Amino acid sequence: MKIIGLMASPRKEGNTAWIVNKILEGAREQGAETQCFNFGDLDIKPCQGCWACHKGDQGCIIKDDMEKLNDAMDHADTIVFGSPIYMMQMSAQAKIFIDRMFARFSPRYSPYFQEENAAQKKLILTFNQGNPDSDLFQSYIDYTKHMFELLEFDVKEVPVVTGLRNGPVHEKEELQTALKNIGSSLVSERLLK
Ligand SMILES: Cc1cc2nc3c(=O)[nH]c(=O)nc-3n(C[C@H](O)[C@H](O)[C@H](O)COP(=O)(O)O)c2cc1C
Repeated sequence: MKIIGLMASPRKEGNTAWIVNKILEGAREQGAETQCFNFGDLDIKPCQGCWACHKGDQGCIIKDDMEKLNDAMDHADTIVFGSPIYMMQMSAQAKIFIDRMFARFSPRYSPYFQEENAAQKKLILTFNQGNPDSDLFQSYIDYTKHMFELLEFDVKEVPVVTGLRNGPVHEKEELQTALKNIGSSLVSERLLK
């Protein structure tokens, strides 16, 4: 089983990276193969809205690190996508990545990578925020989950980590277990099938 982590934060060793890594660690302990991509290391340019991706077979005309991510997504069973909350929504890096996925989707917004009867890609969507109130952005988080479901991802869980203003997430020991359990359950759920 292959699981990839996408960390849509500019801070390569920040809270998002730690959270996604913990989920991957739990999956690795159960035998999954994992790979992670830190958006702070990647060059992903914004969609130019040229529609070239829908006019032929050439795909997106922008040649940058999105090609790496597309290839990794094609070969993954599950994607762990993490973003910090920036100004009450996902980071700009996360939104640029999502806009670039347009090249993978047909005009009815169904994925090209999903062949007839193929299993949906599983997704763990995780947000983290400074504000301690876990209800504060719930409507936005529900909306974003629904957006991924429209893109035909099977969204398994949406862990939201709050209150990260007063110190790094690394200090929250009880969180480690919860996040690792999410990763390990991705593997055990598949083994049960
Ligand atoms: C530009 C910016 C905007 C932010 N906006 C919010 C916000 O609207 N609400 C919130 O609770 N936290 C906000 N935060 C705090 C981050 O969500 C939080 O510190 C997060 O854990 C950072 O993740 P990172 O370490 O991966 O960068 C903001 C931080 C930055 C830098």
